[in-house]
Amino acid sequence: MKVLNYGSLNVDYVYALDHIVQGGETILSSKMEPFCGGKGLNQSIALAKAGVPVYHAGLIGEDGDMLLETCRENGVNTDYIRKLPEKGGHTIIQVDRNGQNCIILYGGTNQMQTKEYIDEVLGNFAEGDFLILQNEVNLLDYIIDKAYERGMKIVLNPSPFDDKLKACDLTKVYLFMLNEIEGEQFTGYKEKNEILTHLTEKFPNARFVLTLGSDGAVYFDGKEKVFQDIFKVKAVDTTAAGDTFTGFFMASIIDGMPVAQALKTAAKASSIAVSRPGATPSIPTMEEVKKGLAEA
Ligand code: RIB
Repeated sequence: MKVLNYGSLNVDYVYALDHIVQGGETILSSKMEPFCGGKGLNQSIALAKAGVPVYHAGLIGEDGDMLLETCRENGVNTDYIRKLPEKGGHTIIQVDRNGQNCIILYGGTNQMQTKEYIDEVLGNFAEGDFLILQNEVNLLDYIIDKAYERGMKIVLNPSPFDDKLKACDLTKVYLFMLNEIEGEQFTGYKEKNEILTHLTEKFPNARFVLTLGSDGAVYFDGKEKVFQDIFKVKAVDTTAAGDTFTGFFMASIIDGMPVAQALKTAAKASSIAVSRPGATPSIPTMEEVKKGLAEA
């Protein structure tokens, strides 16, 4: 069984600010640092740091060498990443004094996937292999259809949530990893149990991990429901906390852990990511997570 993560790679330009800029306001940032990021890349690095061999597929631009380098340094297989003579994906991230962020996303090469490239990548994978997806690349509907035809198990983090998801046949998804806001956008309900009930009605063949911010996370597959609290820490930068959670949950499940233990591992990993700056540099190793769990 192989694991493919087909997703975005971004350079994140992170600005430290007292508060998030308001409309019409100009404020001075005390610090600006570029970090490697992108939901796809962050999740691949989390999987690799959690000890699961992962192939990443996606398109970088002229400015993307640092992204490729970061994948390699962290043990992500880069055989299927391609570079285009175009502007790559990047973000402008404001981080306030409480570690909360807000993000402007420029798609660049992440929005230039072609059917030929997708076919070429998926041709290397087969029935039972996992495919992990987010919503920061174009042709997501085609990727889902083609991977499903091959019998791959599709894991979707529908983030950022937008109208492009409507073009996708989401009944083909094996596991959704989503937050409560995305849950509300799918179902129209705010309360976690109502969200989960309506998600299982809409997608009866799927299972779900719903993250609830400071209220933790819950897994539901239509029968079994498992809750997990957060590990409280002082937030420095919340960027990539969700991606770390996704990567560690998936890695734990692939490794054969029971759901309850996988949720706990993911919650611990994401609490460590929140306590550090940047996206990929904030992601811990499995060793750090296990040590943290032993001390908790
Ligand atoms: O989930 C965090 C990521 O979202 C950042 O690294 C940024 O690139 C955006 O895609």
